Amino acid sequence: MVRVVEQIGDMRALVAGARRERQVIGLVPTMGALHEGHLTLMQQARKECDVVIVSIFVNPAQFGPNEDFDAYPRTWDDDLAACHSVGVDAVFYPAIDEMYPEGWGTWVEVAGITDKLCGKSRPTHFRGVATVVTKLFNIVQPDKAFFGQKDAQQVVVLKKMARDLNMACDIVMAPIVRDPDGLAKSSRNIYLSPEQRQAALVLNQSLAKARAIVLAGERDVKTIKDIVLDCIESEPLANVDYVELYSFPALADIDKLTQDALLAIAVRFGATRLIDNIILQQHAVGECN
Ligand code: PAJ
Repeated sequence: MVRVVEQIGDMRALVAGARRERQVIGLVPTMGALHEGHLTLMQQARKECDVVIVSIFVNPAQFGPNEDFDAYPRTWDDDLAACHSVGVDAVFYPAIDEMYPEGWGTWVEVAGITDKLCGKSRPTHFRGVATVVTKLFNIVQPDKAFFGQKDAQQVVVLKKMARDLNMACDIVMAPIVRDPDGLAKSSRNIYLSPEQRQAALVLNQSLAKARAIVLAGERDVKTIKDIVLDCIESEPLANVDYVELYSFPALADIDKLTQDALLAIAVRFGATRLIDNIILQQHAVGECN
């Protein structure tokens, strides 16, 4: 059975034992409402590590004042069963005041790459993510931590943070898991009405279109972005937040596709904001995922 650990001290004690036995510790940070995207990360961690810890913590610090912190889905019983089904060793499930006690006030800010893409419309989001992940790394002291390409900017930010602050943890990026019709799995998909769910297929369709024109030889960034934008805007229920194409992983501006690049999109359907992306790989454009 999965061990559930709510106190930081107990988590430290658990990993101290594993560390003494020189076991490789893997961490999968999540906010719960677990779906196959999360499960894939856990399975990968299970393959690569001796001890697998999943954290489930809806982190208030990464939600803006008008965002969905209160409404964010919380499905504890199902989450625990899902962790059990993939052989997770322990779930770290702290209360908010365990992570942010009275008087707490230290932030981790990653400069340079957090003011674009999702950071533009969610200006305090990445400092909330970087701060909570730093705290989780300090508590669990993992050798490896597993994150999804679904949140590609998050991975870039956390890799930079780990490098800049000399954290002894490998950040592993796993591919995007999708529903059979192409919609990327997300805890927020449950907010969508059936019509919005159908309309949201335009996300993956627009990325597939970009992939096809790149495969056919298109290298001009503006042309690619315009085609994606047109495709999304042809869907009446879609409101574009951004369509961006940057070098990957540096997230620098580019005019031409001459290196690996991240095509990332964020689109609102009603009040629900969904993100998706594709990495256009220069050395193997035919295998871009
Ligand atoms: P959450 O949205 O719960 O996602 C946890 C992890 O699952 C992230 O690394 C995310 O990229 C990955 N993930 C989500 N959907 C996925 C999909 N369809 N395919 C593959 N991976 C997917 O991201 C967060 O939580 C938080 O910001 C967190 C890192 C836990 C910090 O609070």
